[in-house]
Amino acid sequence: MKVLLIGSGGREHALAWKIAQSPKLTALYAAPGNPGIAEEATIVALDVDNQQAVVDFCRRTAIDFVVVGPEAPLVAGLADTLRAAGIAVFGPSAAAAQLEGSKGFTKDVCAKYGIPTGAYKRFTEAEAAKTYVREQGSPIVIKADGLAAGKGVTVAMTLDEALAAVDECFAGAFGSAGAEVVVEAYLDGEEASFFCLCDGKNALPLASAQDHKRVGDGDTGPNTGGMGAYSPAPVMTAEMVERTMKEIIEPTMRGMAESGHPFTGVFFAGLMITKNGPELIEYNVRFGDPECQVLMMRMKSDLLPLLYAAATGTLGAMSVDWRDEAALTVVMASRGYPGAYEKNTPITALPSESATTKVFHAGTAMKDDQLVATGGRVLNVTAMGKSVNEAKDAAYAALRDVSWENGFYRHDIGWRAVARETA
Ligand code: AMP
Ligand code: GLY
Repeated sequence: MKVLLIGSGGREHALAWKIAQSPKLTALYAAPGNPGIAEEATIVALDVDNQQAVVDFCRRTAIDFVVVGPEAPLVAGLADTLRAAGIAVFGPSAAAAQLEGSKGFTKDVCAKYGIPTGAYKRFTEAEAAKTYVREQGSPIVIKADGLAAGKGVTVAMTLDEALAAVDECFAGAFGSAGAEVVVEAYLDGEEASFFCLCDGKNALPLASAQDHKRVGDGDTGPNTGGMGAYSPAPVMTAEMVERTMKEIIEPTMRGMAESGHPFTGVFFAGLMITKNGPELIEYNVRFGDPECQVLMMRMKSDLLPLLYAAATGTLGAMSVDWRDEAALTVVMASRGYPGAYEKNTPITALPSESATTKVFHAGTAMKDDQLVATGGRVLNVTAMGKSVNEAKDAAYAALRDVSWENGFYRHDIGWRAVARETA
């Protein structure tokens, strides 16, 4: 099978690395790619925002299957364009990608199908939103409706914070993403991410993970795309997985099919495990980054047939095996991230890799034969171990062999699971 992978992050490096191991693969291409992906795939100069250019490349190169990593091309309808051209693609239609593209859309699906989530209301006007916020009281959560790169959410512990967040959204802090605001009840519990493949009518649970969104140790400072992750998430017991499938994933899948927009691809459910069980915080319609990196380390099965089955309606016949070990990844980012940071700083050494240690590239590039950091999140140092604690020790040991002066990282990735394991 000839495959084209779209994307350039650590997630896509992990997908490329795993797809490249498939006996079914005959050639792997990637765009835009990065130096890590280039070790696994042929990088093609392709403007991935130009959907017709992607179709043309697929025809010219006889690509059998396209795997889309990030959400932006999905929300923009790349999967629709490819399907219309007769090319198999992993990833939902633009209509189904609204599960990530619009928080209000997802909340309406939850309401219609009885999916447990925080009570909410949608607003297009500041005064009405503020009246509702005052009625509900704090703590309360204010969300820009659209895609805001993970930054459009304020968990307000006080009324003043909540009112300020409403004003900020409507003042345009998140551009058009904030033209509509969702005000949502605060959910108390432990968060977990849950991943599940779906072909429109069949769902195949993958695995759980937890990430660390805040930039600083002890979960402090501003939100980021994710500073590290581990899998599995101890809070996702077999019982919680079963309840999540029955109460959240399956009704969503049925609801989307019923509405004429069947979901194919991967459900990434952001969950709060509350005293009442799993409640949905949000859906993403692609793998998490860096959650994908730990999932791919742990997956024993061949990934490519699984993605292809999700794309072609044959997931019902598939199963998936996992290693018993835990995996943990530590993100190295450019100093200053998630704010401004210097670009093109040299990375002069990387750790040696083994069956249990792997460095996935995110924002890197080759400049004059030198590996440099070009992005905010740059490297994902990933390791496996018998426990999260062991995986953590192995990842941090490998990280000491990275030579990159402008890099920083969190020192406490996995702390929740480690605390449980050592309690
Ligand atoms: P989101 O972009 O929807 O994932 O929200 C970002 C983060 O805000 C989540 O990972 C949670 O930590 C937090 N969050 C979102 N919604 C709620 C909620 N209803 N209750 C408590 N925390 C929330
Ligand atoms: N790590 C969170 C995300 O991919 O959205």
